[in-house]
Amino acid sequence: MFKRLMVMLLIVSFIGASLGLALASGDKGNSRKGKYLYRKNCRVCHVENGKAKELSPISKTQAQWKTTFEARDKLACKAEWAKMSDKDINDIYAYLWGHAKDSPSPAKCK
Ligand code: HEC
Repeated sequence: MFKRLMVMLLIVSFIGASLGLALASGDKGNSRKGKYLYRKNCRVCHVENGKAKELSPISKTQAQWKTTFEARDKLACKAEWAKMSDKDINDIYAYLWGHAKDSPSPAKCK
């Protein structure tokens, strides 16, 4: 009985740890590459040419970035997103989400 409980606990903590890891790394996107991609593909309008408002990782909370990315086909600039691969979008997500204002390392895009 006790042994079975221990096995259950082990399994539960293993699943918990791997979930935590997946989330911590922003679904395994590459945040460093995401920063580069964001500056290359998004920042041109989101501040440089003034077509859209300034956006930085700290513009939103992690939950807000998640909702934004999930509903990206509703954004005014969805055509810009459509030019990028899912992998690139996932990297941008890792960057924005990973440095959101309620994250452990909030960042402003400079
Ligand atoms: C051609 C110009 C252009 C490009 C490039 C562009 N956007 Fe936008 N974006 C806009 C405009 C215009 C709006 C609507 C007005 C606003 O929100 O400032 C908008 C709105 C948004 C919004 C909603 C605003 C908010 O506060 O939630 C988000 C998020 C966003 N863009 C993210 C991105 C990301 C990420 C990229 C790069 C993948 C990107 N945009 C590329 C022009 C652009």
